[in-house]
Amino acid sequence: MAKIEFRNVVKRFGAIEVIPEMNLVIEDGEFVALLGPSGCGKSTSLFMLAGIYLPSGGELLFDGHVVNEVEARDRNVGIVFQSYALYPHMSVRDNILFPLRFKKTPRDEAFARVKAAADLVRVAELLERRPSELSGGQQQRVALARALVKEPQLLLLDEPLSNLDASLRLSMRTEIKSLHEQLGVTTVLVTHDQIEATTMADRIICMRAGRIEQVGTPDDLYLRPSSLFVAGFIGSPPINLIAGEAEAGTVTVNGARFPLEGGASGSVTVGLRPEHLRFGETGFAGRIAQIEPMGREILYVVETGMGAVRVLEQGSSAGHSTGEQVMIGFLPENSLVFETARQKLIAGAHVRAPE
Ligand SMILES: Nc1ncnc2c1ncn2[C@@H]1O[C@H](COP(=O)(O)OP(=O)(O)OP(=O)(O)O)[C@@H](O)[C@H]1O
Ligand SMILES: [Mg+2]
Repeated sequence: MAKIEFRNVVKRFGAIEVIPEMNLVIEDGEFVALLGPSGCGKSTSLFMLAGIYLPSGGELLFDGHVVNEVEARDRNVGIVFQSYALYPHMSVRDNILFPLRFKKTPRDEAFARVKAAADLVRVAELLERRPSELSGGQQQRVALARALVKEPQLLLLDEPLSNLDASLRLSMRTEIKSLHEQLGVTTVLVTHDQIEATTMADRIICMRAGRIEQVGTPDDLYLRPSSLFVAGFIGSPPINLIAGEAEAGTVTVNGARFPLEGGASGSVTVGLRPEHLRFGETGFAGRIAQIEPMGREILYVVETGMGAVRVLEQGSSAGHSTGEQVMIGFLPENSLVFETARQKLIAGAHVRAPE
C-alpha cells in the first residue's frame, strides 16, 4: 500500500494548462474520490498517478519517493478505465493474466493469482469466455480483477460504474467499497456523480477547472461547503440559493427582511437545502407550484417572493396539493451564507426565518 502525494504538480498539453498547480496528500489505505464536472481534470490527475501522463512540473510521490520518471509498468498500480478496455480477442483468463506478462511470474503462481482475483470479484466461472459473451456488470468485474491481479499498491478507478444500469451501479458501489475494506489498498475513484463519491469515499476532493476547490469528508462538503460551487455540486435535489443584501443583523431578500446571526454585510447568497425546509405555521410564505413524488420523499416546488424554492418532505404520499398556500420554516443552524462576490462561505453566519 502507498501514501500518495501531489507536490505543486502542473499538467499542460501544449499551450493549454489543464492542472495549474495541484497539492494533495492521500494517506496509505485511504479511499478518496476525485469529484467534479466534465473537463475539470479528474482523469488527467489519475493518468499522472498511473504513469500514463508525465507531469509538466512538480513532483508526484509514492511513499515519499518521486515517481515522475517511473514507467507505468513499474509503479505497481492497478487501473480500471471507464470503458473497461478488455481485449476482445482474449479469454477472460488471459485478460486478467495480462498485467503479469512483464513480471516474469512463474506460470503456476500466475494462474493461482488469476484464480484468486477472479474469486474476489466473483467471475471464476467465466474464465474461458470472451468479453463479448459477458454482461456489462461482468465485464466491469473482469476489469477490476485485471487491476487487482498484480496486488497493486494503488488502485485507480476512472468512472468505473458509468456504463452500468442504476441497480447494478448500486450493488457494485457496495462491492467496491467492501473490496477496499477487505484489501486495504489505497484507492482513488474518479467520478462526476456526487452520490457515488459521498457513498464510497472516506474523503472527497472536489475539483473545478483543474483546481482543488475543497477537500473533506462527505459530511464536511455537505454541511460546510466552502464555496457556492461545492454547495451546488453536493446534494440532491440541489440546494436553494437565494440572493440577498446583508446589513446590521438582517438579510433583505426581494423586500422581505430576515434576522441574520453572525457577521456579514453586502451582497450575500443564502443556501437552504430542500431537506432542511419544513412546512409549518411560521416562516416565509409561498404557493405550491409543482409536486414531484420521489419514492420515500416528495419534492415540492414552491413559488415565493424569492423565486422558486424546493422543499423535500419525508413520506410517500403528498400531504399538500398544488396551488396550496404554505409557510416554509427552517432551523437557522442549517442555513448557509455565502459572500456573493467571492463565492465563499461566511463561517458562522446563519439566517433565521421570521417568527
Ligand atoms: N491529450 C490531451 N490533449 C489536450 N487536452 C487534453 C488532453 N486530455 C485532456 N485534455 C483537456 O484537459 C481537460 C481535462 O480533461 P480530463 O479528461 O482530465 O477531464 P475529466 O475531469 O476527466 O472530465 P470527464 O468527466 O469528462 O471525463 C479538458 O479540458 C480536456 O479537454
Ligand atoms: Mg474523465
